[in-house]
Amino acid sequence: MSLKPSELKKDFPVFKEHPDLVYLDNAATAQKPLQVINAVEKFYREQNSNIGRGLYDLAEEATLKYREARKTVSEFVNANTDEIVFVRNSTEALNLVADSLEFEGDIVLSEMAHHSEQLPFRRRAERDHREISYLPTENGKISVEKAEQIIGPETGLVSLSHVSNVFGKENPVRDIVELARQNDAYIVLDGAQSVPSQEVDVKQLDVDFMVFSGHKMLGPTGIGALYGRKQLLEDMNPYQVGGGMIRSVRKEEVRWEEPPKKFEAGTPNIAGAVGLAEAVNYLTDLGMEEVETHEDELAQKIENGLNSLEGVETVTENSKSLVSFTASFAHPHDIAEVLNQENIAVRAGSHCAQPQMEELDISGTVRVSPYIYNTEEDVEKLIESVKKVKEVFS
Ligand SMILES: Cc1ncc(COP(=O)(O)O)c(C=O)c1O
Repeated sequence: MSLKPSELKKDFPVFKEHPDLVYLDNAATAQKPLQVINAVEKFYREQNSNIGRGLYDLAEEATLKYREARKTVSEFVNANTDEIVFVRNSTEALNLVADSLEFEGDIVLSEMAHHSEQLPFRRRAERDHREISYLPTENGKISVEKAEQIIGPETGLVSLSHVSNVFGKENPVRDIVELARQNDAYIVLDGAQSVPSQEVDVKQLDVDFMVFSGHKMLGPTGIGALYGRKQLLEDMNPYQVGGGMIRSVRKEEVRWEEPPKKFEAGTPNIAGAVGLAEAVNYLTDLGMEEVETHEDELAQKIENGLNSLEGVETVTENSKSLVSFTASFAHPHDIAEVLNQENIAVRAGSHCAQPQMEELDISGTVRVSPYIYNTEEDVEKLIESVKKVKEVFS
């Protein structure tokens, strides 16, 4: 059964407040359905307490809600419950891995990596005096052929995006995982753009770590997840230390909790986890295959519509969930500003991927990223409005 975006829109209060809004900046963050907003509100109204410590009913209820949230989120990506660490966002998860994983060898990143993926590992390389190599992009994807020349016995860790936030194309993760395994290298997957939009199974992908952000998948801001293989999480040192992550503290010795608690120092974002679990339930009820098909169809329509306009060029073809484009008649920022006057929200700039922009020899793109509540009418309005932009600047 295909999605009914006009019906779904009714679940999102933002569209009641802004009935003419065409929101096409979902790769940056998604809007929140009432179900998520209500779950967060209910937590604060009825269930609020700190977790893990209290011996009273309310504390036990809050602890249970947090535990259930972890189970829901772990099942969504087919991880075991104790392999999901709650973090603030993908950025924090990537910093955690880059900081805490012990490994030998060099680091392989990709040219297209978001700064949040790239910078933690660059800092680690600097700290340890390790070499970094970059997997090049070919038509919006990592080239396996080139990766075969780059990933080798010297490689200790490979980090790559599942779906790029610039190109919206799925990288050949299984092939890269295979290369990493052949060379005994760890593999980290940035799922910030894939987990909201398609079924993702960490076991099937066979990655060591994967990160994603709640706010890009209908959940609240300030909550995200790190998947890590159990054995690796057990072997890693904690990223931050403090309350909630220790078994015992004596002057002579400190003993950490088992993962995932070991990585969740201090009071976590309990309401955020509850909200994220509700977002996962919402997406699961829709069906991730339907979500993926809907986004792919809209992305194709956007791509075709834009490419039919003279002076407009999409950066790649056959994008999955988002489309980046440039125009000969206006700078990306000017395009986004004029679209804003038409009540269309898109993003313009380098999308936190400056090295990739440098490689493409462009200053930036306009990025259009649809989601479950976007309709064909939204796409038509976008294309008509880009035509208007052309008139304004011609
Ligand atoms: C591919 C990719 N990785 C990482 C991030 C960072 O996500 P967050 O800002 O939620 O940490 C983003 C955000 O846009 C992204 O698109």
